[in-house]
Amino acid sequence: MAAKAARRPPAAKPVLVLNGPNLNMLGKRQPEIYGRETLADVETACRAEAERLGLEVEFAQSNHEGVLVDLIQAAREKNGGIVINAGAYTHTSVALLDALNAAELPAVEVHLSNIYKRESFRHRSYISPAAVGVIAGLGTQGYLLALQALARLLSR
Ligand code: DQA
Repeated sequence: MAAKAARRPPAAKPVLVLNGPNLNMLGKRQPEIYGRETLADVETACRAEAERLGLEVEFAQSNHEGVLVDLIQAAREKNGGIVINAGAYTHTSVALLDALNAAELPAVEVHLSNIYKRESFRHRSYISPAAVGVIAGLGTQGYLLALQALARLLSR
């Protein structure tokens, strides 16, 4: 009888870490609110955490709502989960909510600042209903906590 071919589990799809408008300005932009770390620092920290967790990550940032929608649509096939800091689009974008719902992937919403301690227009997130969880106010550590949460969810 022919030996059964050894089956390896399919390689897990990478997690997409997606950043919205003005997050490319991290480090320079209102450091008293957002800190001094740059988006490149966040990417480096995410890649190190992902390696520790045995996850692959892809990193993207756009200032354009439609580009973010395109990336979320592509994630449906390409990615296993999403960490999203949608910046100001958090508080305005039905399109991002719809894209996240259509992606049918576990998504963790991250905010560097505690949006509930700030102006009232920041208290409302349009995208939270599509998220498995929300992390706000813990600075860049929030991204790492989001990766930890997804690693756990995806291993189930
Ligand atoms: C933010 C909070 C938003 O209200 C703001 O528009 C941002 C950044 C945060 O990470 O704290 O651009 O998402």
